[in-house]
Amino acid sequence: MSGLASEPRGIAASARATDELGGAGRVGEPPEDIVALYKRHVSRGRATLADLTGGRLEVSSAGAHVYDDTGRRYLDCGGYGVFLLGHRHPAVTAKVVEQINRHPMASRILLEPTVARAAATLAGVTPPGLDFVHFVNSGAEAVEAAIKLARAHGRFRLVSTAGGYHGKTMGALTLTARELYQAPFRPLLPSARHVPYGDAGALAEVLRRQPDSCVVIEPVQGENGVVLPPAGYLRAVEALCREHGAFFVLDEVQTGLGRLGTWWGADREGVVPDALLVGKNLSGGVIPVAAMVATAAAYAPFSRDPFLHTSTFAGSPVAMAAATAAVQAIRDEGLVERARDLGARILAGLGAVFAENCPHLVREVRGAGLLIGVEFADEHGAGDFVLELLDRHVLVNHSLNAHRVIRFTPPAVLSEADVTWLLDAVTAAARAMAARAMAARGRRAA
Ligand SMILES: Cc1ncc(COP(=O)(O)O)c(C=O)c1O
Repeated sequence: MSGLASEPRGIAASARATDELGGAGRVGEPPEDIVALYKRHVSRGRATLADLTGGRLEVSSAGAHVYDDTGRRYLDCGGYGVFLLGHRHPAVTAKVVEQINRHPMASRILLEPTVARAAATLAGVTPPGLDFVHFVNSGAEAVEAAIKLARAHGRFRLVSTAGGYHGKTMGALTLTARELYQAPFRPLLPSARHVPYGDAGALAEVLRRQPDSCVVIEPVQGENGVVLPPAGYLRAVEALCREHGAFFVLDEVQTGLGRLGTWWGADREGVVPDALLVGKNLSGGVIPVAAMVATAAAYAPFSRDPFLHTSTFAGSPVAMAAATAAVQAIRDEGLVERARDLGARILAGLGAVFAENCPHLVREVRGAGLLIGVEFADEHGAGDFVLELLDRHVLVNHSLNAHRVIRFTPPAVLSEADVTWLLDAVTAAARAMAARAMAARGRRAA
């Protein structure tokens, strides 16, 4: 595989940080104490899951790497899509530390410059016409803001897609199409429909009957196991929303800011929604922050009345410092293009590894940029593979709405050595799975 022309700052910083840490993470408390604290004070279920991962603790991070309490280094290709910039990107941490030392939280009585600058910086990279930014603290809160903005325009009915994921607060959960998460909390918001993803005809049918809708769609379904819609789908959704006067929300919490190898999923088809939702990468991997970015017309109700939808910590200077620095670093270091090129290489590499070592265990390898899904044929394949990779010190995620699919969302600051580490680990894990499957077949035949 050919190397990439220039390496962004995050890679050098990662190597430097490794040296600073003496090649090891800080040695923390013994694992059993932390598991006990989890059991008593956080979550018994989480503590039980920790048994599967050997009770290991993560205590520090730098670039593409996370360190456990024994100093062992892991390649982080998970993080639920947060770490396009890697961990502790120097440009982001420098601005955040500077802001903490100057003015981390605002009085909210006076105007405060960091929020204005962050909004301008973010609006500078969103599709044209998306100029007004409402900052929040999480992806689900961005979804809630969009639901309320649509309601302010009289669009009370919700339409999202089967398998879609939009968060777990009550409004967002109404859109998140998974029985497991919804059932214990019903009744949810009224008048919600889920249409098959990728099926513009089904959406047309619903909008014909209820034009006063708010349509919330992901450009690629992340938590549903990296589902890419057919070409032309996003354009068709946009056209249908315009035709029927529906409020069009594109949820790019997972896909936005370069993850797909384009700035936005919207760019894949040149669409401009009424509201675009941003999260995860906006944090720079340092401070939680998310946003809804809307057109002037869509945003008008929130623009007129700044107290219509508020939250105490939203738009705090420390989060704004992270957001501004993150967007600037993605832009200045060419991380969108790097995500595209790295993603193409890793997608091809993974496809080849699985085809060669265990084609019967894997149904499909698919993705865009650095959002890559591997769908296993067997019920337990994905879970087993996550553990195989963990044994090789590579972190990946399962998918919340698709249990057969694991997701690779590596940082765009992976070095050549990291790419080799990743593909070697996947090869070894695939061979181990294939050997186990063969042994199981042998036992059944005996
Ligand atoms: C597309 C999408 N929307 C919304 C959310 C919710 O974001 P958060 O977990 O920050 O609330 C997620 C989280 O994975 C997501 O992938």
